[in-house]
Amino acid sequence: MAISQPATRPANPRFSSGPCAKPPTFDVTKLADAALGRSHRAAIGKDKLKAAIEGTREVLGIPADYKIGIVPASDTGAVEMALWSLLGARKVEMLAWESFGSGWVTDVVKQLKIDAEVKTADYGQIVDLASVDCNNDVVFTWNGTTAGVRVPNADWIADDREGLTICDATSAAFAMDLPWDKLDVTTFSWQKVLGGEAAHGMLILSPRAVERLESYTPAWPLPKIFRLTKGGKLIDGIFTGATINTPSMLAVEDYLFALDWARSVGGLKGLIARADANAQAVFDFCDANDWIANLAEDDATRSNTSVCLKFTDDRIKDGAAFAKAVAKRLENENIALDIGAYRDAPAGLRIWCGGTVETSDIEAMLPWLAWAFEAEIEAQA
Ligand SMILES: Cc1ncc(COP(=O)(O)O)c(C=O)c1O
Repeated sequence: MAISQPATRPANPRFSSGPCAKPPTFDVTKLADAALGRSHRAAIGKDKLKAAIEGTREVLGIPADYKIGIVPASDTGAVEMALWSLLGARKVEMLAWESFGSGWVTDVVKQLKIDAEVKTADYGQIVDLASVDCNNDVVFTWNGTTAGVRVPNADWIADDREGLTICDATSAAFAMDLPWDKLDVTTFSWQKVLGGEAAHGMLILSPRAVERLESYTPAWPLPKIFRLTKGGKLIDGIFTGATINTPSMLAVEDYLFALDWARSVGGLKGLIARADANAQAVFDFCDANDWIANLAEDDATRSNTSVCLKFTDDRIKDGAAFAKAVAKRLENENIALDIGAYRDAPAGLRIWCGGTVETSDIEAMLPWLAWAFEAEIEAQA
């Protein structure tokens, strides 16, 4: 029999996996100091871009000798720049276990036509990391946003590797500990864990990645938007705030606000703790209910940001229609917005647990999920 609606509602129903919820203290008046209508090359614009770079370094604990650049086209732009600028110098291994990782495989194999070794795993699983040879260039996603599966650690990345590790960390940065000594190229977008705006990507380069850029020229042409070097030298300005092309100073201001908020909750440690608490509330809910389970098969690979869930009740007739209907009920009640599984992923739900989401909202939402499940089981019957 259907259960009645819970008494408590989440204060904020935004559980989207990107763009993610804004920080709880956000409102648009916080962006009043944006350098709008000014040149981004003027001192005021340059200072703000530099503050975004150095704030990123400070909050994420990125080593002083790593370069951090603000680049066009969100995380996709940052990843594509890295792939097109760096690959081709040595053998490449591509690792993929969900949609975005698979997208990078397509680009490298079909567009760049590199004869890469491709290692894939199904949704819910992860590739055999012990089999990866880091003397090759290795491209992987730290947290597979559409599967809710993340690498459990970086033990499989050799310290004395000859290849470069290129890591799409867009749904991991600011929620998981990233071991910078193991990562040569790391990318993320402001729109993810900090709840910023899309538009710009962050490209983080180790000294070895810079060395590659300065010693290797790819066989293919590079559009201006991808070019990181000039005359065989790194364009240093990109990494001090002189962006390749015009950035949105409104998005920059928003990111500066998000960084300030991050500091106010204890920086990276505080952000990780918030994501862990959110995800744990969902994990506990799955443990307590036999009709729902984490898509990640191994607990060590469970994401603490993009938590993906599958329905496991054998009364469900059409899995995809059922999951959609449950998500729709929650949206109609303004309890949870945008929690349907990613379009290429198995049927189910995806609940964003990054630090901008309040644990009290996750806890208020979950009983409603039970309500929507029961209501849909009854409707289906
Ligand atoms: C793992 C991963 N890579 C890349 C992207 C694309 O990011 P963007 O749209 O910010 O370029 C996403 C977006 O969700 C993602 O989750």
